[in-house]
Amino acid sequence: MEKLDMLYEGKAKKVFKTNDEKRYIVEYKDDATAFNGEKKGTIVGKGIVNNKMSGLLFKLLEEKGVKNHFEEIISDKEMIVKAVKILPLEVIVRNVAAGSLAKRLGLKEGTIMKSTVLEFSYKDDDLGDPMINEYHIKAMELATDEQLDIIKKYAFMVNDTLMEFFGQKGIKLIDFKLEFGLFDGEVILADEISPDTCRLWDAKTNEKLDKDRFRRDMGNVEEAYLEVLGRIQ
Ligand code: TMP
Ligand code: ASP
Repeated sequence: MEKLDMLYEGKAKKVFKTNDEKRYIVEYKDDATAFNGEKKGTIVGKGIVNNKMSGLLFKLLEEKGVKNHFEEIISDKEMIVKAVKILPLEVIVRNVAAGSLAKRLGLKEGTIMKSTVLEFSYKDDDLGDPMINEYHIKAMELATDEQLDIIKKYAFMVNDTLMEFFGQKGIKLIDFKLEFGLFDGEVILADEISPDTCRLWDAKTNEKLDKDRFRRDMGNVEEAYLEVLGRIQ
């Protein structure tokens, strides 16, 4: 497959067109941002870890029935994906209170939620990705009812699959963010699944093994990303 013009450059990835109009090449970057791009930095080796980890998890999810955009890893930092049109939604799944949920509701970080929490944000950098609910999604026509049903079903399937998978590797899946896209008129899972988009804690020590180490200046960021990759592959 031939890599053609860059279609889009995001904060953590570049997306390229290819000679197949139904396929893109995604290139994962070492650039890291937080707080809507206010904090900037580099996590050496992140692109390689996130590419490998996303590929591995998307493959596992496909086997479990979660249709997604992943096709094939083609280099350290690149994968071929289906050319989806991303829906402007961030879908957040939470098992344990952390980050913005802990802050917003005054819960101690680490509080186990009695049941899984699903949240939506409107993907808009200028607005800082504000939280929305299903009524906003419907009223703003961000997704149809049928599409939303699939998104919710997939979000819980991803949670069940990844909780079990990470659990076997001695990692607790605290929360994560998903994005979905349209391909041939169908909603499928897209974007990435990595320590950038998941909170992952060591099951024994609760040590953070994710991007919170960068967000909160905790040090050993590169080591944490490599630790997760080492445990899962
Ligand atoms: P939050 O607690 O900051 O709302 O984050 C919830 C989850 O979503 C956490 O696993 C990190 C992930 N996330 C992203 O992937 N991108 C983002 O822009 C934000 C704010 C969070
Ligand atoms: N990636 C997001 C940003 O730069 C936020 C985050 O992951 O914390 O704004």
